[in-house]
Amino acid sequence: MSIHSDSRKKITVRNIAKYKNSEKIVMITAYDALFANLFESQVDMILVGDSLNMSFLGKSDTLSATMEQMIYHTKAVCSGAKSPLIVFDMPFGSYNSKEEALKNAIRVYKETDADAIKIEGGSKRAEIIEYLTSNGVAVVSHIGLMPQFVRGDGGYIVRGKTPEDEEELLKDAKILEEAGAFALVLEGIKSEVAFKITKEVKIPTIGIGAGVGCDGQVLVWSDMFGFFEEFKPKFVKEYLNGAELIKKSLQEYVKDVKDGSFPTEKYSY
Ligand code: KIV
Repeated sequence: MSIHSDSRKKITVRNIAKYKNSEKIVMITAYDALFANLFESQVDMILVGDSLNMSFLGKSDTLSATMEQMIYHTKAVCSGAKSPLIVFDMPFGSYNSKEEALKNAIRVYKETDADAIKIEGGSKRAEIIEYLTSNGVAVVSHIGLMPQFVRGDGGYIVRGKTPEDEEELLKDAKILEEAGAFALVLEGIKSEVAFKITKEVKIPTIGIGAGVGCDGQVLVWSDMFGFFEEFKPKFVKEYLNGAELIKKSLQEYVKDVKDGSFPTEKYSY
């Protein structure tokens, strides 16, 4: 039996373009079929983010995520969610040249049902994005705070704090749009700068820690549902205290097993 209860129509790259100036885009991360299926009837886009390296694998950053790992999780997400547009996050080191980027993107399309890929980086990635899009790959660009640059930059640094940085971000956004990206993730950017970028590009912007002026929002599911206890960024609204709920329920299960109150007749054959 299929786990799909939802009969929503598939959201495509063309649909996403139409959201600009009409409806906010809702994006969430997912790493497995179970959660992707819980999210699918309500969200527009699902990102199989390389954040899974932290949320799922317990690593301290995203850098060691591999193509194999990302493909494995994307297959799972695609079997759990049919209607949202699924974005595959290209892991660090998988798009250093245009040839390597295309080879890996083709692998994503051949081995998974992902609709698009996401690439971190500004204008230096333009040539790669142009090459990918001209070969039939849909690309989401990601600028601002870029987690794959954390070691090189020496930390997670909020962007757009100086006029020079604002100018660079605006320039990057326009060049990436010109190169063919169909959407732009803006992470960790001063609100007023993200707002300006959103006004100046025709493609939708999807913010994370980039204020109220973006065309949509993305959050990491384990952050927003309170499962990731180690670090709570300022931009995350916690919609559930997941860790607390799990721990309390687990405590009850442990107590029940220890004192013999589970299983009872009701749970026995
Ligand atoms: O990997 C991820 O989850 C991301 C989001 C933070 C945008 O790139």
